[in-house]
Amino acid sequence: MKILVTGGLGFIGSHTVVELQNQGFEVIIIDNLSNSSEEVLKGIVAITGKLPVFEKLDLREKKSVQDFFKRHNDVDGVIHFAASKAVGESVENPLLYYENNINALVYLLQELEQKPEANFIFSSSCTVYGQAKTMPITENAPVQTAMSPYGNTKQIGEEIISDVTKVTNINAVLLRYFNPIGSHPSAEIGELPLGVPQNLVPFITQTGFGLRKELSVYGDDYPTPDGTAIRDYIHVVDLAKAHVIALQRLLNKKNLEKVETFNLGTGTGSSVLEVIRSFEKVSGKKLPYKIVARREGDITEAYANTDKANNVLGWKAQSTLDEAMASAWKWEQKIRS
Ligand code: WQD
Repeated sequence: MKILVTGGLGFIGSHTVVELQNQGFEVIIIDNLSNSSEEVLKGIVAITGKLPVFEKLDLREKKSVQDFFKRHNDVDGVIHFAASKAVGESVENPLLYYENNINALVYLLQELEQKPEANFIFSSSCTVYGQAKTMPITENAPVQTAMSPYGNTKQIGEEIISDVTKVTNINAVLLRYFNPIGSHPSAEIGELPLGVPQNLVPFITQTGFGLRKELSVYGDDYPTPDGTAIRDYIHVVDLAKAHVIALQRLLNKKNLEKVETFNLGTGTGSSVLEVIRSFEKVSGKKLPYKIVARREGDITEAYANTDKANNVLGWKAQSTLDEAMASAWKWEQKIRS
């Protein structure tokens, strides 16, 4: 079975390629290298011993997408990670996000709708829920007005897929990630540190390593037990495994709805201070931090109700916060050595 992974040299994409190969799938990666590097291929091979096919390609170029599918008309499934994902950047440069995250999706689906059948997995995000009213968050929680153009592209992407699957032979799964963190236990692949990290965990590990003076904790006046915001931090390997299971569900074609949505989290919320404590525990280091004002657009709390993924996919996150944090710290030390 041949699987196309777009954005397959990225953080979640590369970890998913490893798990696909571990399950015997043949993998083709498309990536435009805007937020990744071909070096990641070496890490994948170091783990699995198998070199995936890689084609540098920008999905915003419709002709390139068409030519790709002419050359590879035997793809059995597509996992679509390739997208811009920085919330703040999307506010500054919305058109970059609408072009990259929407046009590319449309060009991919235009190729898939021509096939007798197609299996499509979409990388979505819990950001579509905004600040959900009830915790833990189920897949039935209302999709709220997006807090950023990035979040809006995820909502629009889900709606496009839903409309298209109604009138084509494409079956789709929407995977709404909570907060992916950590790295493969081998430390051969991980989150590439490109620029100043916007996300909490890479900023923590860089601070721990001494690359950053201190962490700024964005607000301790939230209505939470310790005043800092709560998220559901899921190990990226658990997340990757969920993609393979979702793909196998599509390929098995049993009791499928045209579009199925799953929240991928641990089901446990952790505050910023709890994440800091976890880092200090696994690294043995004291993390310098200061409390500053809230970050514009941040929500108070988000953690997943994972019953549907547990019951329908038979998938459950295995790693604890400490294990995920330990893997992130191991990766930070490895790339700085
Ligand atoms: C987590 C918590 C911050 C940095 C975003 C996107 C989501 C996904 C993951 C792409 C928040 C706090 C952070 C820092 C801090 N992105 N924080 N100091 O905002 O929950 O989710 O990234 O797929 O779609 O919305 O993740 O890691 O940025 O923040 O205090 O230097 O850590 O305020 O409470 P977030 P995050």
